[in-house]
Amino acid sequence: MALEVGAGGFGFYDPRTMEKEGCIQGRIRLWLQGERAMGLSTLPVRMVGAGGGFVAAAAAGGRGAGGKARETAKPQELWPSGEDSREMAGGESKGAAEAKKAVVSMLVGGADEPISGPGLRREERIRLLSAMDEKEVRGCRQCGLSESRTHTVFGEGDPEAAIFFIGEGPGESEDLSGRPFVGRAGQKLDEMIAAMGLRRDEVFIANIVKCRPPGNRAPAPEETGACTGYLVRQLEIVRPKVIVTLGLPATRYITKLELSMGRMRGQWHTWRGIKVMPTYHPSYILRNYSREIRKAVWSDLQQVMSELGLKGKKV
Ligand code: URA
Ligand code: SF4
Repeated sequence: MALEVGAGGFGFYDPRTMEKEGCIQGRIRLWLQGERAMGLSTLPVRMVGAGGGFVAAAAAGGRGAGGKARETAKPQELWPSGEDSREMAGGESKGAAEAKKAVVSMLVGGADEPISGPGLRREERIRLLSAMDEKEVRGCRQCGLSESRTHTVFGEGDPEAAIFFIGEGPGESEDLSGRPFVGRAGQKLDEMIAAMGLRRDEVFIANIVKCRPPGNRAPAPEETGACTGYLVRQLEIVRPKVIVTLGLPATRYITKLELSMGRMRGQWHTWRGIKVMPTYHPSYILRNYSREIRKAVWSDLQQVMSELGLKGKKV
């Protein structure tokens, strides 16, 4: 029942000893921080043996996890070919699956852990983001939205952006083009970005779900649950200074609050150490084109600008 995690920094441990020492979490965390700094993006984990040891290996995109220990462990023997942890859930007991989930969340930094350590180099960010899009998202069938989509909409922008906008999900124009916020709501968002004195390619724009919910309905909880792992990894790679959530689904997902937009907007929140400013969704601004709503959005964006020292549009 040996534990091997990524075969990177810390090799093999007997889980029983580690539990006795009470250091398993700390060791895994430390190791993972190192791996993350080296560009690790995903970490498939699989239960082995009835007793429930874990085997984990860095997936595509992970670096620095090659090493000798991995060779010795011959993870290939334990590891099915398609290196996708999600394909491996079948056949496990409920307890095992839950334990695995807990360890996976610990390994990826934990839902509430601040993102720390040095950021990745620009080229590495570009590589990791395009690999995620091309190798995972484009072929993703993890939820029912895959059945009605034309294109997945990964998101786009500067991989080193200070501001990361999160919308709800692709609409018709986005589904047809494969790009986020290109329809009417997109024009409004472009205006908002320009008003902040920025170009669209200076920010990053993505959604909580990557496929269009039919009829532009809000994404269902199971769809958000299936998809947001991608968004979390996008945020970990881009590591913006500020996240701007657009509208209710994005704001509720990031803040974990079940309040109204009126209550959440205009206030700073944090997500894993990153400042979060919720504001109204551009579609909502278009539907409720009142002075009051526009004023509220502008005041939210101004808070973001002052946080980042942005001067706004030159006139
Ligand atoms: N609305 C969104 O929330 N996202 C898009 O990409 C387009 C419209
Ligand atoms: Fe996969 Fe997300 Fe599309 Fe669902 S919405 S199929 S989880 S990419």
